[in-house]
Amino acid sequence: MKNILFATSEAVPFIKTGGLADVAGALPKCFDKQYFDIRVILPKYACMKQEWKDKMEYMTHFYMDIGHKNCYVGIMHMEYEGIQFYFIDNEYYFSGPTPYSSAPWDLEKFAYFSKAVLSVLPVIGFRPDIIHCHDWQTGLVPVYLHDTFQQNQFFWGIKTIMTIHNLKFQGVYDVKTVQEITGLSDYYFAPDKLEAYKDGNFLKGGIVFADAVTTVSATYAQEIRTPFYGERLDGLLNARAQSLRGIVNGIDYDIFNPETDPCIPYHFDARTFRKEKVKNKLALQKELGLEEDPNVMMIGIISRLTDQKGFDLIAYMMDEICQGAVQIVVLGTGEERYENMFRHFDWKYHGRVSARIYYDEALSHRIYAASDAFLMPSLFEPCGLSQLMSLRYGTLPIVRETGGLKDTVEPYNEYEGTGTGFSFRNYNAHEMLNTIRYAEKIFYDNKREWNKMVDRAMAKDFSWNQSARQYEEMYNWLIG
Ligand code: GLC
Repeated sequence: MKNILFATSEAVPFIKTGGLADVAGALPKCFDKQYFDIRVILPKYACMKQEWKDKMEYMTHFYMDIGHKNCYVGIMHMEYEGIQFYFIDNEYYFSGPTPYSSAPWDLEKFAYFSKAVLSVLPVIGFRPDIIHCHDWQTGLVPVYLHDTFQQNQFFWGIKTIMTIHNLKFQGVYDVKTVQEITGLSDYYFAPDKLEAYKDGNFLKGGIVFADAVTTVSATYAQEIRTPFYGERLDGLLNARAQSLRGIVNGIDYDIFNPETDPCIPYHFDARTFRKEKVKNKLALQKELGLEEDPNVMMIGIISRLTDQKGFDLIAYMMDEICQGAVQIVVLGTGEERYENMFRHFDWKYHGRVSARIYYDEALSHRIYAASDAFLMPSLFEPCGLSQLMSLRYGTLPIVRETGGLKDTVEPYNEYEGTGTGFSFRNYNAHEMLNTIRYAEKIFYDNKREWNKMVDRAMAKDFSWNQSARQYEEMYNWLIG
């Protein structure tokens, strides 16, 4: 039996701010339980739903030194869908209305978490063969493991993996502060370790000290070795290229299943979508106060409203897009300028544009089920999960060819009758508009072709199956 510990700052269903939570919640369930004992550790945030906090059981607590502080470390436990979850409890660090706020407080919080992850292991009596770390919040796990924990034989030979879900976020602050927070010695603040451009950098520490580095699509694994996508770590990622690989994300096929999804009013599958899917559109039009028309093309947008997702292209073209025969449905929160932009267009094109500036998981499912197309013109996209959910619900993605979008959406080729969506190459508003117009043309003038594309989209398999096998292979290879 091989022991694997997932260290993560979020996991569905306990806490979610983005795709990382979907991955950390779904992937552990997909390993072969005969060979792998996968457990997950994350913070116990005050902002978690009471329902979950009530189900956690107190195991024990102790005190841990970090920097100049001596901190309480509580350990809570819960089994959920066959997986053991551990929660680090510390009200000083994990209070507040959201998991993240801003530097340097978040750095202190996750330095504490990373050290606590290691400190609890002998206490709970679980010795992982591999600690699988996710994003900068757990970047210090490999670093601390390399440091004082080596004085304890328990930790000898534990391997680490650093998975990058988004290179943009690195956990950066001036060296002096990072040194104070982490309590790490001068040795670690050299340019070949945590120091980057005169700052201390958590993710860099993880990339340098982990035994293997992965990211969430093959294309992104290549892209981050170039200056445009490298977020100033492209040099390091090239140096580690032999240990860097891309494994594309999947989605939870039990949760995202148009045949059984309890959040959607009309169920459908690959055979019945021609008749049944449109009923979801009519229901959603009614729910959102849009013009009720089964024939109009509905485009969904569900996203964090940030630059990464290409919202400046959408903002620039929104008036133009709305000149076409489409309805636009938006769900999400984020940067104020984009929130206000969508509120404005909801007002200006009332009945044709609906902007819901909040997050609602159930509504997101209804939008995937109801829409004809899904727009995702990202500037960069390590993997992207929404396009996978769209494909599953027979909603054709319109994407920019970057990262995981390039790897998972096959562009329509009208001559060969292939493809599962529409894509464009350059980060250019007119290219995006042309691609939307092209999709509209197929939708209205060639419904047969459109539906065949839906057939192909729904036949794709983006469950975790294949990707989990690739992780298993890597685990086996690392443990040897
Ligand atoms: C981040 C990335 C997204 C990826 C997700 C899960 O949110 O931005 O592209 O799908 O992590 O790996």
